[in-house]
This record gives sequence, structure tokens and C-alpha cells, in this order.
Amino acid sequence: PLLDRLFNAGKTEVELAKKLGIERTIIVPGNGDLQDRVFEEMGEELSSALDLLLPLGHSIITILGGAALAKSAKYLSKSLGDNRQLEFIPGRGALGENVATQSNTIVQEMAARTAGKYKTLYLPEQVSATAYRSLIRESSIADLLQDISQSDAVIHGIGLAQEMARRRGYDSIKLSELREKKAVTECFGCFFDDKGKIVDRITQVGLQFESLKKIPHIFAFACGARKAEAIKAYMPNAPHQTWLITDEGASEKILKEN
Ligand code: F6P
Repeated sequence: PLLDRLFNAGKTEVELAKKLGIERTIIVPGNGDLQDRVFEEMGEELSSALDLLLPLGHSIITILGGAALAKSAKYLSKSLGDNRQLEFIPGRGALGENVATQSNTIVQEMAARTAGKYKTLYLPEQVSATAYRSLIRESSIADLLQDISQSDAVIHGIGLAQEMARRRGYDSIKLSELREKKAVTECFGCFFDDKGKIVDRITQVGLQFESLKKIPHIFAFACGARKAEAIKAYMPNAPHQTWLITDEGASEKILKEN
């Protein structure tokens, strides 16, 4: 039944996709800010969408991490791994972040659910430009970056700029700089303003925002009314093949505003 539902987008899902300029949205009932059940349903929808879109055989799925995805990972269906060899890859380094929400942890959980494989990338999230240049030449890291560039699917969260900056330990000066630049949202280490312009960026080893457009299937995973403005600010930049998996809390707020 979930697969049938995916073939037939609801009226609001079509309207939201049109407003955001992306291929598809999937809206689950409720508001993730208040109800944890939302993460279960979003996880199940993600699983069905992957089942629908991924070919049988070997696939690489790159995971960016975040709290929403961490809560939903255990709801991937075991049957997603039937006749598939799935390989889950972290899309960035994340040391410094809470272990539970790191891509390194989520890839392990998803691989265990689907009898797949995983790789890890134990690097700080943010590195200096000098370190970046030498790290990407390390053979194990270069191999992983090669895998990322050949991903069949990417799954990422959408963060609120101030919250993500605080999570990364920005001091008050950097926080107010970000506010002056009117950063609203953060994805792939890029901070975007409400017009979708990149106003700040951190140097991180992993999937670069510019390479995203080459990935066949992209899933943005974000929910709750409080994320509405972040989703709206990021989406003008999202490659068209992006599918947004969200909830009514976020979608109602996005659709209400101009
Ligand atoms: O960590 C990956 C990421 O996609 C960030 O780029 C984004 O800001 C974050 O997830 C948001 O996730 P959450 O709010 O669910 O923790």
C-alpha cells in the first residue's frame, strides 16, 4: 500500500512540490516538533521511496546525518535489502557532533537493517584549507570521495542556520556575523539566506554542494513547523530531482506563506 501511495501523490504534496520547485514531496501526518511518531512514518516513507527508485543489485547511498535522520533510520524496511547490495557512506566528517546524530552512526544502523555494508569517515566536520588539500589526497579518503561521487542516492537533513552554528560550537561573534549575513538555513556545510544565496560556508571533507546535481536520487529529510523557513530557504537551490520527505507541521506553514 505504501508503494501505491508513492505512485499517487496527494493534492497537497503536488502543491508543495510545485511551490518548492522540486520533483516530489511526501507529507506524513502530524508535527515532528511535538510527535515522535512522525519520525517513524517518515522513515517508512523513505524506505518505500528508496524501494521504488533504486535498481536491484549494488547501490551506494550517501548519508549526511542529522537528528531527524538518526531518529528515522531504524524504520527502514528489512526488505529494502532483498536482491540489493546496499552500501551506506557518510557524506562528511562529523567528529565533534553528538555521536548519535553523526552520519557515521546512521550508516551503521541502516546497513544493519538492510543487511548491507557501510564505510565510516572519522574526521572533524570542519578542517582548515591546508588540511583539506592534503586529506583529500589520502588514499582511503580519496576512495570514499570516489564512492560519494558515484552515489545512486543522497539523503540529507535541512538545518536552521543558528541552531547548526551553535551545534558546531560557533562563538558569539561568529553567530552574530551569521545573523548579519541573514543566514536562515544550512545544508552540506553551506549557509543560505532566505533568497537561497550562499552567504557562508565551512570547509568540510565530503560531498560538496556543487556535485549534488549529478546524483540521480536526492532525499531531503526535514520536518516540524520550526523547520518551515529553513526548508523554504534551501529549496530554490535544490536540484530538481530532490524529493522532500516532511510532515504537515512544516508543509502547512510553507504553503500558508507567500
Ligand atoms: O548533518 C547533515 C545535515 O544535513 C546538516 O547539513 C543539516 O543542517 C542537518 O543535517 C539538519 O539535521 P537535523 O536538524 O535533523 O539535526
